[in-house]
Amino acid sequence: MTVVTVRTPAKINLGLSVGKSRPDGYHPLATVYQAIALYDEVKARPAEAGQFTVTVTGEGQDDVPLDDNNLVVQAAQLLAKRAETNQGAALSIHKLIAVAGGLAGGSSDAAAALLACDALWGLHSSREELAELAAELGSDVPFCLVGGNAIGTGRGEAVSAVLARGSYEWVLAYAAGGLSTPQVFAEFDRLDAVGAADEPEVPEPLMTALRSGDPYAVGLALHNDLQPAAIRLRPALRRTLEFGDEFGALGSIVAGSGPTCLFLAADSEHAIDLAVALSSSGVCRSVQRAMGPVAGARIVT
Ligand code: C5P
Repeated sequence: MTVVTVRTPAKINLGLSVGKSRPDGYHPLATVYQAIALYDEVKARPAEAGQFTVTVTGEGQDDVPLDDNNLVVQAAQLLAKRAETNQGAALSIHKLIAVAGGLAGGSSDAAAALLACDALWGLHSSREELAELAAELGSDVPFCLVGGNAIGTGRGEAVSAVLARGSYEWVLAYAAGGLSTPQVFAEFDRLDAVGAADEPEVPEPLMTALRSGDPYAVGLALHNDLQPAAIRLRPALRRTLEFGDEFGALGSIVAGSGPTCLFLAADSEHAIDLAVALSSSGVCRSVQRAMGPVAGARIVT
């Protein structure tokens, strides 16, 4: 039986500048994305015409919907509609990326489902066609197809290349439970109703640091406008971030809309030390290590 397997990475935001809420409710963003070597795996198998199913195993499996609310199912349905095919798909996801963790896990799975179903159904869609569908599915989905380092503008879906050097060792502290992205943006609005820019920009020190490839400079320049909102909704994150600082992280930041916290290490040895210290600290539920940048969603079989 045919099975298409796609490996798809988590995303982090090295800089996340958020502007004033737009009339459509979204916020204009200027962000630097990086894909990291922490992967979910999505498989697509043939199914009866018009039938779409999904099963989930791994990290946070009980928190992932198994109906049409699953973004993977929506991705398969959207691709089928656009390609005017009546083929179905039996999808399965194996998760390592935290659910509702600020790492675009659901978005990355959706990007993977587009690639997997495209191959399963023999559609040969172009990258541009898939990117267009990806943008309809969610703001982070186009980046998950591309991976590497990239700038995101618009609501995050307009992805362009960025000049960046170096590879980076990250330690991720998973929190107990997730945070709802719309709630974090709503809290951002409450906290920053007048201060937000109409056209946010990536801070220049971050661009300079990325061009240099120096992790110390990048650590100092990490920036997330959603961090105060995430901390307001989950005050315990403050302690988690402080812990990273105390143990010599080059930078400590909330990942995207949180509640995952992200620490930059100087090298892999430092990352192991930091991960061990965090694991036994009690300031988080569990710890992952991952280097970045890596490629976006890719077919592996
Ligand atoms: O695009 P996506 O469906 O992933 O976004 C989830 C939610 O996050 C949106 O419904 C919106 O509330 C919020 N969001 C936002 N501005 C963005 C991206 C997301 O307000 N640029």
